[in-house]
Amino acid sequence: MTEYPHLLPAYRQYAEMGIEERVAWIRADRWLETADARAALARLEDLLSYPPRDRMPCLLLYGDTGMGKTKIIRKFLRDHQPKFDRGTGVTIMPVVAMQMPAEPVERDVYGELLNAMSAPGPGGDATFRLKTTCRTLMRKMGVRMLIIDEIHAMLTGTYRQQRIFLNVIRFLANDLKVPLICAGTDLARQALLTDPQLAERFEAFHLKRWSNTQQLSQLLASLGSILPLREPSQLGTAAVRRKVLDMTDGVTVRVFRLIETVAVDAVRTGAEAIKLDSFDGDNLVLPLVAMARRSERRLQRQAS
Ligand SMILES: Nc1ncnc2c1ncn2[C@@H]1O[C@H](COP(=O)(O)OP(=O)(O)O)[C@@H](O)[C@H]1O
Ligand SMILES: [Mg+2]
Repeated sequence: MTEYPHLLPAYRQYAEMGIEERVAWIRADRWLETADARAALARLEDLLSYPPRDRMPCLLLYGDTGMGKTKIIRKFLRDHQPKFDRGTGVTIMPVVAMQMPAEPVERDVYGELLNAMSAPGPGGDATFRLKTTCRTLMRKMGVRMLIIDEIHAMLTGTYRQQRIFLNVIRFLANDLKVPLICAGTDLARQALLTDPQLAERFEAFHLKRWSNTQQLSQLLASLGSILPLREPSQLGTAAVRRKVLDMTDGVTVRVFRLIETVAVDAVRTGAEAIKLDSFDGDNLVLPLVAMARRSERRLQRQAS
């Protein structure tokens, strides 16, 4: 007899674990391939295999905070890790991903880029020299794609700083002959579009909020088939989907946190399954302020 037939075979063993071990398992960082994430990764793969040419295509991965942009980038980096070549003594780094500097200052952008290539920082070098160093190093390390995450940080700069920053982006997009990928919010997209040349170069990929679709059913079903609960959950019903959307506004991070919270609750209370009423628990500690506020509003509405 197979125990826990509601779980994928590889995950059944975890349902055997004790309470706190399962709680830790539920809360651990993991990667789940959602429909949009899969499509975004496929797009990135396609761009990585693009033959070098004068104007390389660029991609803007945009969506609200918590929609999974950074997660997708990290997964792509894991799929394309740097390799040290013993023969030449050079590290080959097909994909370089950098963070936006705290301020959109040209010098700091190159500093972050050097940092992403594990090179010594900018030191006292002049900006134009840093630019050359970055370019040389990228060639030497066989970089075939540059990713800049949190591009919306440019909006913290003054108007002038933002213009200069867009020039830097244009330089990177034109001069490096590698696809440039930027990830950020919709505001960043709008800022990027104010530059006609960039608007022409960038294709946009929108990570949309979840809605009541097949994709959401799939996400909930896959969570139901891996979370170490001993009884089958009711994550496949339309009522649960509506509940989840109502409590999370369809933001990925909230969906994950909400399901984790009810799953932990199901383990600790011994309920061992997620049902529609699992989402109404009085002592459910809602993980995100926004969600807590929402459910408060709902309670007020119910009370009045
Ligand atoms: N594909 C995924 N698999 C698992 N967890 C995810 C996934 N996408 C998002 N998450 C969860 O949402 C959180 C926020 O995602 P993140 O990539 O940082 O969002 P963004 O960069 O768009 O603001 C992650 O820390 C993770 O907990
Ligand atoms: Mg991010």
